[in-house]
Amino acid sequence: MTLAGKTVVILGGTSGIGLATARAAQTAGATVHVSGRSPERLEAARAALGAEAFTHEVDAADELATAALFERVGSLDHLFITAGQLVLDAKLAPDRATVAPALDTRFWGAVYAAKYAAPRMRSGGSITFMSGTAARRPLPGASVATASCGAVDALARALALDLAPLRVNTIQPGYVDTPLFDGIFGEQRDAVLAAAGAKLPVGRIGRPEEIADAVLFLMGNGYVTGINLVVDGGGVLV
Ligand SMILES: NC(=O)c1ccc[n+]([C@@H]2O[C@H](COP(=O)([O-])OP(=O)(O)OC[C@H]3O[C@@H](n4cnc5c(N)ncnc54)[C@H](OP(=O)(O)O)[C@@H]3O)[C@@H](O)[C@H]2O)c1
Repeated sequence: MTLAGKTVVILGGTSGIGLATARAAQTAGATVHVSGRSPERLEAARAALGAEAFTHEVDAADELATAALFERVGSLDHLFITAGQLVLDAKLAPDRATVAPALDTRFWGAVYAAKYAAPRMRSGGSITFMSGTAARRPLPGASVATASCGAVDALARALALDLAPLRVNTIQPGYVDTPLFDGIFGEQRDAVLAAAGAKLPVGRIGRPEEIADAVLFLMGNGYVTGINLVVDGGGVLV
């Protein structure tokens, strides 16, 4: 597909799936804006994407900062909100302050982004929210994070009607090999991910580029709206 002449904004685009999507969108000809919180990750993204990409230090859970971001960007064509983190909460033991970022980022971040981006989106535009197969097969010990995925799935279906003819979808990846797991699994990371991959029909976990490819499909196909696109190596089947 071509994104020549299009403007693509990726909230959470400085690492993993977001950065891979930024690269893919650039390769397809788009002008890319990426955001994140960490200055170090923003700097690394600048180095990876080159001077033609725009980087913005913005917390997706901050409504005012998100409004200011879209003011700076101006008109755009496609928006992907992938900002999020895995918040563990076994048996709901952690307090609200610990688990709230799961919803504040994935759900409220999606609401804010759609609210301020939609009025600036050109004809043919699309919004893609990041969900996960956890919405179908809950991840043990992450109930609030799981609920945040279900929440954006429902939000996308509702906004596919409310914001039409803009198209609104979610992507639901299974396990994908990104820095998300570095802090969670530590030295066990590679062994844990290899074991998770071995249980899948395809025999391995996903690559960020494979999710990016699916996100570009959602951006480019003008007949797709209100869906949750599963890209998981068959994980929901086993
Ligand atoms: N990897 C998987 O297996 C998998 C599976 C299903 C769903 N997901 C979801 O996919 C998304 C991307 O994950 P990833 O695997 O690509 O992880 P990653 O490599 O850690 O990337 C996460 C990105 O989101 C940004 N981010 C996190 N919180 C943010 C916030 N509040 N405001 C702005 N940016 C924020 C990070 O930058 P800063 O930290 O600098 O802000 C980074 O750019 C997440 O929502 C994750 O839950 C991942």
